[in-house]
Amino acid sequence: MNIIHISAECYPVAKVGGLADVVGALPKYQNTAETSSQVIMPFYDVKFTKEHNFTPIFESELDLGEEQYQFRILKLSENVLDFDIFFVDVPDLIFKDYVYSFDDTKRFLAFQIAALDWMLTWDSLPDVIHCHDHHTGLTPFMLQESHKYEAFRKIPNILTIHNAQYQGWFSHDNVNLIPPFNFNNVGLLDWGGQINPLAAAIKCAWRVTTVSPSYMEELKTNANGLEHLLAQESTKCIGVLNGIDTKVWNPETDDYIVKNYNEKTIDPGKKANKEHLCDTFGLDSNKPLFAFIGRLVGEKGSDLFPEAFKIALQNPDLSILLLGSGNKDTESQLEALKDTFKGHYNAFIGYDEKLSHIIYAGADFLLMPSRVEPCGLNQMYALRYGTIPIVRSIGGLKDTVTDISEDNGFGICHDHVTVDEITHAIERGDQLYKNQTRFKALRTQIMKIDHSWDASASQYIKLYNSIN
Ligand code: ADP
Ligand code: GLC
Repeated sequence: MNIIHISAECYPVAKVGGLADVVGALPKYQNTAETSSQVIMPFYDVKFTKEHNFTPIFESELDLGEEQYQFRILKLSENVLDFDIFFVDVPDLIFKDYVYSFDDTKRFLAFQIAALDWMLTWDSLPDVIHCHDHHTGLTPFMLQESHKYEAFRKIPNILTIHNAQYQGWFSHDNVNLIPPFNFNNVGLLDWGGQINPLAAAIKCAWRVTTVSPSYMEELKTNANGLEHLLAQESTKCIGVLNGIDTKVWNPETDDYIVKNYNEKTIDPGKKANKEHLCDTFGLDSNKPLFAFIGRLVGEKGSDLFPEAFKIALQNPDLSILLLGSGNKDTESQLEALKDTFKGHYNAFIGYDEKLSHIIYAGADFLLMPSRVEPCGLNQMYALRYGTIPIVRSIGGLKDTVTDISEDNGFGICHDHVTVDEITHAIERGDQLYKNQTRFKALRTQIMKIDHSWDASASQYIKLYNSIN
């Protein structure tokens, strides 16, 4: 079985969040004796594309309404990933130093059209086309409705919703950007009076998956306007929990961290990484270290951090370290706290892959007070690195973290996203840290939890088989 993933992000080529991690890992685990899996993504002007070599394998021209664009399909020449990866290069639209911006409608539409035009020329068509999020949401519609893609009608396609908050809306005035289709079915593109790529994909895809079972349930009542549609299409929807790439996220082999470790060497391993972090950020490594890594957006609950941290840091015996970027107001409030709490709070506002690994390794607790968390990978990375997750029980966080008050519990969970509950959860962490015997036993316990992709990758294969 030949599977192709169509995605806007893929680690290590271009990463904004967890979508990249998933698309950079799942295909590795789907390359087996029976299945082969590959990825096609846009060719951005980023570090990875500057540093590697690519071979052009196809060249043509596509129409976006009245405009014509030259495009090429490139293949990564070096064997640096464990799967084949192809790129759509539309120099006039896609080759920019950002992944997402104001011009996404045209860029991602051109990406999808070029990818499908190229696939039409294959000797044998793929067995499954797997689309990810709204950036590739018009693909299921085009496969079903666009005249020029008639040949794909019998090819199963799947949509995975990583995040239903973002839907790619654009005006019906731009409907002519989509390759000609049977206009009687234009309603398939519409949701609430706009063209909604995510909604169109939910309607047209053969199967719809979300990245955790709980998120699938939650979408029925909270899907940024798509609740009714998801309820209507529920028979083809299923939640499949993400896994993590244990080759990339392995404290025993991770090149980014200061000292490697496993369950047996966890104490000196975490100590060395924590000391390095504390030296770098002017913190005291004898105190429990609470960290956050992520996008500073409402979904992550990060707007409450300035207030919550001010309260939590009244306790001088703990430290907080934050790595993230996003909302400018939150960024500046978090920056401002640095002076007030010098010595037990610090923040790096920005994106830094290496630092994130050292934080997973060196922190004692990882904070995730998310309002919405379709899956969340951070908590699974934290577990693998022996860092205790403190999470709001929602979506994938609910499916992967059990509170220490329950049988075999290993994390700290709270129900609501409020300043009170965040600070209370930090206090519970502080109490747990004081009981070093229990704290250390839990660290070793969580390192053994298996969240590798094996189980979920085979769930996807079963799903593909069921529609082939
Ligand atoms: P989301 O995709 O919603 O942002 P996930 O938990 O699925 O959340 O994945 C986030 C990914 O992005 C993780 O790999 C995390 O380590 C990484 N990440 C987020 N923010 C940063 C940052 N500022 N620097 C480095 N890595 C980050
Ligand atoms: C999205 C979600 C996140 C999930 C990731 C990968 O970005 O916000 O919860 O882990 O996709 O599926």
